[in-house]
Amino acid sequence: MTKISAPRPLVAGNWKMNGLASLLAEADKLKQRLADPAVGGKCEVMLCPPATLVGAMAKAAAGSALMVGGQDCHAKASGAHTGDIAAEMLRDAGASAVIVGHSERRADHGEIDAIVRAKAEAAYRAGLMAIVCVGETADERKAGKTLAVVTGQLAGSLPDAATDANTVVAYEPVWAIGTGLTPTVADVAEVHAAVRAALVKRYGDRGQGMRVLYGGSVKPSNARELMSVENVNGALVGGASLKAEDFLGIIGAYA
Ligand code: PGA
Repeated sequence: MTKISAPRPLVAGNWKMNGLASLLAEADKLKQRLADPAVGGKCEVMLCPPATLVGAMAKAAAGSALMVGGQDCHAKASGAHTGDIAAEMLRDAGASAVIVGHSERRADHGEIDAIVRAKAEAAYRAGLMAIVCVGETADERKAGKTLAVVTGQLAGSLPDAATDANTVVAYEPVWAIGTGLTPTVADVAEVHAAVRAALVKRYGDRGQGMRVLYGGSVKPSNARELMSVENVNGALVGGASLKAEDFLGIIGAYA
């Protein structure tokens, strides 16, 4: 079970490349339900919509318990980088956080650890919290390399300036993302313990307070079990964050 001294959990939704303006109605529903302290009072709640919706969502969520984040940022603050978005722009649009190093970015855009680290540093520079993602592929797990891969990614992707206030780690096994598959509770516990140990070794007390989210096929029916694992301090949710009712079912793990 989560210890009393554990950090305040975070349940963050990643809409990925989904959502036209009409989907903002789901964020509105969520915002309204979060106004009831019985619903979201025990955790922080965030949605990370596509960049096109960050400004509108942040405006609608202003003053509410719903936080808004981006899904990626460029390492630089401005310049000739067509199609890219700076952390400062996300902040300007009302975001308070940004996901960096998601496995889809690592796979689709060749984002190696050094790039992810530079993006996390950009987030700090802009005053955003960085949600830094790590996780092994199915082949790496089969080969018994999970802990080595995850701790290696952490070492390479986290900046020295990471603190419990500016950084959240998300452990997302690549094979569990969007597949309906989840690791066993024992496997989640093993990886999260290794992540915690690596964070404490590198950052001391700061590493103790850093939140470590689990991500990969989290849904209302498995959230309570996954969120009760030691060193799991919340969830990063893809598919099940697109509908307010599903996402609220996951948030309910902390009711
Ligand atoms: P999923 O995605 O919940 O749809 O598996 C998780 C993620 O990629 O963050």
